[in-house]
Amino acid sequence: MCGIIAHIGDKQVLSPLVTGLEKLEYRGYDSAGVAVKNGSGLDVWKCSGRVSDLKETIDDVESKANLGIGHTRWSTHGPPSDENAHPHTDGSDRVAAVHNGIIENYEPIKERLIDEGYEFTSDTDTEVIPNLIAYYLDRGNDALDAFNHTLDDLEGSYAIAVIVDRIDSIFAARRGSPLILGIEDESYYLASDVPAFLDHTDEVVYLEDGDTVEVRSEGVNIVDEDDQTAQHQIQQVDWQPEETGKGQYDHFMLKEIHTQPTSLQKTVEGRLDTDAGVTDLDIDKDLSDIDAVHLVGCGTSYHAALFGASLLNRCDVSARAIRASEYDANTGTPPGNRLFVAVTQSGETADTLGALRQAKEAGVETLAVTNVVQSTAAREADEAVYIRAGPEIGVAATKTFSSQAVMLTMLSQHLARVNENGSRVENVNELVADLMELPDAVEEILQSSDTARLAREFLHSDSYFFIGRSLGCSVAKEGALKFKEITYEHAEGFASGELKHGPLALVTDKTPVFAVCGGDNQKTVTNAKEAKTRGAPIVAISPHDHSIVDTADEHLYVPDLHPVCSNLLANVQLQLLSYHCATELNRPIDKPRNLAKSVTVE
Ligand code: F6R
Repeated sequence: MCGIIAHIGDKQVLSPLVTGLEKLEYRGYDSAGVAVKNGSGLDVWKCSGRVSDLKETIDDVESKANLGIGHTRWSTHGPPSDENAHPHTDGSDRVAAVHNGIIENYEPIKERLIDEGYEFTSDTDTEVIPNLIAYYLDRGNDALDAFNHTLDDLEGSYAIAVIVDRIDSIFAARRGSPLILGIEDESYYLASDVPAFLDHTDEVVYLEDGDTVEVRSEGVNIVDEDDQTAQHQIQQVDWQPEETGKGQYDHFMLKEIHTQPTSLQKTVEGRLDTDAGVTDLDIDKDLSDIDAVHLVGCGTSYHAALFGASLLNRCDVSARAIRASEYDANTGTPPGNRLFVAVTQSGETADTLGALRQAKEAGVETLAVTNVVQSTAAREADEAVYIRAGPEIGVAATKTFSSQAVMLTMLSQHLARVNENGSRVENVNELVADLMELPDAVEEILQSSDTARLAREFLHSDSYFFIGRSLGCSVAKEGALKFKEITYEHAEGFASGELKHGPLALVTDKTPVFAVCGGDNQKTVTNAKEAKTRGAPIVAISPHDHSIVDTADEHLYVPDLHPVCSNLLANVQLQLLSYHCATELNRPIDKPRNLAKSVTVE
């Protein structure tokens, strides 16, 4: 939530800053702004709305500034407005700051500074940062000392970048929110995420919590939390610049749905063997004593956790999916025999990180299943396995759900093997073979899906219900989440058997029921019939020869593979259905209202 960028280079920085902000817009789109050092002063442009609105305000600006900062906001303190947009400056416009995170003690600091005569114009917590720096400058400190004293006063989580008039440096710090340094010859970038500068460089330094950075044209000085010069390695990012653009697609979401054959291929690459099963998940820890697995995540990642828990239970490994915000480490199996799996695309979700920290404190073994290399979850967990889905920019998660579910499927087989429990998952060899076929099967659906027509057919329904059992239940829940997220229409996902215990009261001929039948879910057929009897149109998502097809009014086809795969293919149909409904309704698909990707507040 909120994206920050800073850039110092040998050319003008205004346009790379704005282009970088466009790539970070998935982190928030309530307002946008940039500040550059212009001669001995600072120029600031900011406005509520999108980066495209900001672009209009600076269209005619000719700037030669070679140093600046930028921000795209997801509002926490104060509504979206020009005043609350970052960068924030002190009253005398000497200091400009951008911030991602929350300053928890901003109120007493603000009161103290107001008493000292400093002026505030916004509702934000961030505005204390430039004013505190100004306060310390006014007391004779140089810019670096003023920045460091300010950090000492702040409580909370943050990634901050600051510029000061007359000083040719960017000052930055990371405490709990992501911040990455990009290096291109003698130009440097700091950003919340790599796509912000991937067009310019793939050489990065992942900053650590507690790092304070001064970036000048001549080089970078990083000081760690022990006040020592940090010696972080320069790493090469494995993402290509074209992965962060829309390419030929109208929306990132559509592109990400369509790149699933490739992303799934990468998820399984080198990890599967039709003879040997799951081969190598790069997990060093001995997990043979694990008696219980807690799969913890939020939103879509929680649905992937549900999918994984269903499979683990079938492998006789006791498993539960838990919403990260509801996690309590002090219940259940003794910590020593428990495995905590943080399921998180971004690796930065505050609720999930909070649960991960609780688990670690309780002495539980932890593993992160994440997409982002060196994300906070990846660093803080005892081990990390990467889903390798590539950058996901659309706010609604699509390809990463598929890759998470496949990764958790492989993890379930790995645990079954090391626990020597055997596996009750049907036909493991067939499962492995079908996982390898999954990319082609997704392609088949992308080429043949009838969801555009169905979206029009059911466009003005009162509500949309999604049902399924076991693996199909997690897919039904995910289908409903995706639907409500991008169409703004009411949708619910249920375990099929639950329909008759209450929700059936809502069923009418204006509430289509989408029945996920990726395996032989005979009971779902009965449940779908119960809804049909009450007038609901039924859409089956299943292989051709599944008996649900006879009950259904409409049919979305999925290839008849192992239930793990067929249910994931049903999910692809549901992704497309949501997308087409949202397009018909003219919704801002990649940036649904009130949402942002990577939710870094609890
Ligand atoms: C929905 C969506 C969210 C995320 C959730 C967790 O489409 O994207 O529900 O799944 O905010 O995010 P991560 O996986 O980054 O922890």
